[in-house]
Amino acid sequence: MKSLNDKDLFREAGLIGGKWVAAGSGRTVDVIDPATQLSVGTVPDMAGPETRAAIQTAACAYQDWKKKTQAERAALLEAWHGLMVKHLDDLALILTTEQGKPLDEARGEIRYGASFVKWFAEEARRINGHTIPAPTADRRIIVLKEPVGVCGIITPWNFPNAMITRKVAPALAAGCTVVIKPSEFTPYSALALGVLAERAGIPAGVINIVTGMPAEIGNEIMANETVRKISFTGSTRVGSLLMRGAADGVKRLSLELGGNAPFIVFDDADLDLAVEGALASKFRNGGQTCVCANRILVQAAVYEDFAAKLSARVNALTVGPGTQPGVAIGPMINMAAVEKISRHVEDALAKGATIVTEKPVLPEGPQYVAPLVLTGATARMQLAGEETFGPVAPLFRFETEEEAIALANGTPYGLASYFYTESLKRAWRVGEALEFGMVGLNTGSVSMEIAPFGGVKQSGLGREGAQAGIEEYLEMKSFHMGGLG
Ligand code: SIN
Repeated sequence: MKSLNDKDLFREAGLIGGKWVAAGSGRTVDVIDPATQLSVGTVPDMAGPETRAAIQTAACAYQDWKKKTQAERAALLEAWHGLMVKHLDDLALILTTEQGKPLDEARGEIRYGASFVKWFAEEARRINGHTIPAPTADRRIIVLKEPVGVCGIITPWNFPNAMITRKVAPALAAGCTVVIKPSEFTPYSALALGVLAERAGIPAGVINIVTGMPAEIGNEIMANETVRKISFTGSTRVGSLLMRGAADGVKRLSLELGGNAPFIVFDDADLDLAVEGALASKFRNGGQTCVCANRILVQAAVYEDFAAKLSARVNALTVGPGTQPGVAIGPMINMAAVEKISRHVEDALAKGATIVTEKPVLPEGPQYVAPLVLTGATARMQLAGEETFGPVAPLFRFETEEEAIALANGTPYGLASYFYTESLKRAWRVGEALEFGMVGLNTGSVSMEIAPFGGVKQSGLGREGAQAGIEEYLEMKSFHMGGLG
């Protein structure tokens, strides 16, 4: 990648046991810039043998890594964090080139990703066990916290940096070692993190990165008995396959899966604040996040006003290559994403929805999609039941609070939800009634390192970030001491 300040951050090899390696088969996978459809480069198309080697090397490195003091692990994570901040611009450029999101958003993602490394460097120092009052005078019982072991970390393309650090930083802080399988669409952000981890002094074998197509790598991670835990962010379909695959080895799992976030605007809401929140939540990363508002539910009395205000703001969004200044929405990740978005819009239009935004000027290229506000959305439409994962804001009309709650909860998913009201009583009532792992009141953003991130129902298992995030990588050991009388 020519315009990087530090060209060494761009690697076209996997990382196993401190060595940058090709696939044994010699096969490679092309990585495509979604803005131009041109190849950015290739990475090795690794499979079972490389994954086994990476797991083996992670298991060897684990023996020393788990014995480091908490302060030693914290210091190495702090150094990794410092390098991420130092190379923020290069990491953002790599991210935009392979993923498409606007450069400013990519910088935001690097800061977000780095915040997990900093947070878990701090949490590493607080892995405290506890004592339990013993039942007899000659006994003592203490509870120790120990690392889970080797972890398989499988990450998505929509946050190629932050979804890695949100998993790897707590794993390392806890004393685990990892084998990362980044998305085949966005491996370079992962590999750049690997370079910086090496420079930070994180020992060889603690972080291993296996690139390539997912099937064989995933199968090995699921089947290999040395892997004690899998952490995955991605679709509910793949999450449930991983659950089945991990069942034989009774591995621990953290799953951050699909969402279908409701965004409710009550008639006592501050509408301008709600419009800001809807823009932030719906159009972040071009709508390609699991926590993006998928269904915007607006109370009848403010429906027209809200639609007009939101459309005016959406009309002003510029679509273009992520590297172009002023662009708010970059290209979608691939043609499958573009096709799903148009299927949802066509289905909605056929079932009575109306586009109320202006037709924007789109740049050349098949992966650009117009941001839209649709009025007249109903529960019968495909976009009500499935994540659109694109810049389409469908507005559903409701009359009563009960109806809004029933609509919001009427999904098998339970990741993020948002609502806007100025009433304190309603805030509590609705906040408690929403069946989601995360609820935003008068805010369109729930993602930060200090608060638990995760879902209920088919949106997953476990929590990332916050104090809870490190527990996912720790086991409890009850240590009973007798004969002390
Ligand atoms: C995701 O879309 O999977 C994560 C979004 C976030 O961390 O905000």
